[in-house]
Amino acid sequence: MQELEKIWMNGELIDWADAKIHVGSHGLHYGSGVFEGIRAYETPKGSAVFRLTEHLQRLQNSARLLNMELPFTLEELRSASMKLIGANGVAECYLRPIAFFGYGELGVAATGNPVDVVIMSWPWGTYLGVDGFEKGIRAKISSWTRVGPNVIPHVAKATGIYLNSMLAVMEANRGGYDEAILLTDDGFIADGSGENVFIVKDGTIYTPDLAASILPGITRDTIIQIAEDLGYPVVQKQLIRTDLYLADEVFMTGTAAEVTPLREVDDQPIGAPGPITLKIQTAYLDTVRGKSERWSHWLEYASTERARAEA
Ligand SMILES: Cc1ncc(COP(=O)(O)O)c(C=O)c1O
Repeated sequence: MQELEKIWMNGELIDWADAKIHVGSHGLHYGSGVFEGIRAYETPKGSAVFRLTEHLQRLQNSARLLNMELPFTLEELRSASMKLIGANGVAECYLRPIAFFGYGELGVAATGNPVDVVIMSWPWGTYLGVDGFEKGIRAKISSWTRVGPNVIPHVAKATGIYLNSMLAVMEANRGGYDEAILLTDDGFIADGSGENVFIVKDGTIYTPDLAASILPGITRDTIIQIAEDLGYPVVQKQLIRTDLYLADEVFMTGTAAEVTPLREVDDQPIGAPGPITLKIQTAYLDTVRGKSERWSHWLEYASTERARAEA
């Protein structure tokens, strides 16, 4: 991780090295936190955070599902994110807001524990590698199933859930694959360890519906809208592993992974990134980098020197 100058912690910008918590923090022991992964991109009009408001709304929803009261409003977190980008001076970065039950009692119930809120930012390149981004990655169906709706609310981006993702991706990596695809308990396709899954078949795009133990990805929503706008029908439904094997194209989406093609699933070749995947990948990159007027409302500009000068 490339360290930058500042971290926003509980309302203040502090030096990177000073952003510390007590080892007795509840979140460390029980994974009782919620977080977001957001990207800011360099655009012709300066640093723009992609769908910041929607990410912060999801953070609020995640907190609500953990009975966690966030001590900051959405507007306060929005302005903190912008301030942090300005303070660190890196226009193109990844933003990581996290809220967790802090130091107090260490019973499993977090009632009464304070809630700490932190926002970090740092430069983060292509999540699954430049080669994978361009030529496609190799994925494997995981032996781990994705947490179900009655295990941990899967629509929450909760820290504890990522033990499930960590086990899956490390298992895949040990087997020589780039990423895991997790199924639901019933055997339907859910998510990658940090991505949503899309299949292209006969010109139609399919993706698991929101009830299939998936995280409601903001990139997923973006891609559905972009794809429909480009004229491709998008169907949200339950999918099974053989839909992947028989697909014309498969790709994964996420803030970190952006739009990453798959070239193999379970050693079954899908082939080079297909034309629809490439069209959507290009449209997504044009959108986040401010080259598309059509979706400009998704960009929230950070108040960097450049943006101020042009205002
Ligand atoms: C399990 C899982 N699914 C999907 C996604 C994609 O979500 P988004 O597009 O909002 O980054 C992520 C990443 O946050 C994730 O961790």
